[in-house]
Amino acid sequence: MLTLEKINVSYGSIRALHGISLEVKKGEIVALIGANGAGKSTTLRTISGLLKPSNKDSRITFKDVQIQGMLPHKIVEMGLSHVPEGRRVFPEMSVYENLLMGAHTRKGKPGQADFDRVYHHFPRLKERIKQLAGTLSGGEQQMLAMGRALMARPDLLILDEPSMGLAPMLVEEIFHIIEDINVAGTTILLVEQNAHLALEISNRAYVLETGEIVLEGLAQDLATNEDIRKSYLGE
Ligand SMILES: Nc1ncnc2c1ncn2[C@@H]1O[C@H](COP(=O)(O)OP(=O)(O)OP(=O)(O)O)[C@@H](O)[C@H]1O
Ligand SMILES: [Mg+2]
Repeated sequence: MLTLEKINVSYGSIRALHGISLEVKKGEIVALIGANGAGKSTTLRTISGLLKPSNKDSRITFKDVQIQGMLPHKIVEMGLSHVPEGRRVFPEMSVYENLLMGAHTRKGKPGQADFDRVYHHFPRLKERIKQLAGTLSGGEQQMLAMGRALMARPDLLILDEPSMGLAPMLVEEIFHIIEDINVAGTTILLVEQNAHLALEISNRAYVLETGEIVLEGLAQDLATNEDIRKSYLGE
């Protein structure tokens, strides 16, 4: 569904990604794990068109179409939604209005079925439909950011650290919901510092270190890998 080939990305003179190649197949949950500053968010921002690769021989393909150089909203229209790090809901807007904004990039008006799908995964949002997004708890804001992304009916959802700053019980809940969204038919690329839970729900994973993929494999194999256990699972 998504393929990255030889992606280099720089911020000015600082090179953040060095020749990243990765693949996400239809139906999978793929995890991208790595320490602070490894380049995880940069990778996601490049996929969704917010950053551009600096090399000519790079290639990003989504559903057999080359998407690099396309405008971010066009990429959303094609069925790729990005939930950025730190959530970024519109604080002065209600939950309902935030969800409507999520459908904005799509052709055609959102129907009740779109709202119902979001309420199915996030019943708490339904209870708070009129509440201003800025007054939601951190966990509820994460749910809203994910619900907003679902309103665009994505085939591929890319999530940047959905567990960040949440209490352990809520983290478990969010991970269960990610699994449910996947089972309901959405492919997922998940960036996480919580490598333990990410590997638990993923089919495959890539490990990013200072802008390079240093390891890839089945999630269950990486979870038992000695180096991974020491570096990322705190064992
Ligand atoms: N806007 C920017 N300008 C300059 N350098 C940046 C910018 N954004 C990121 N970087 C640098 O690029 C590198 C990769 O950053 P990135 O945010 O992709 O890391 P990350 O893996 O998402 O880290 P974290 O786990 O802390 O979110 C870091 O060295 C960072 O300092
Ligand atoms: Mg990041």
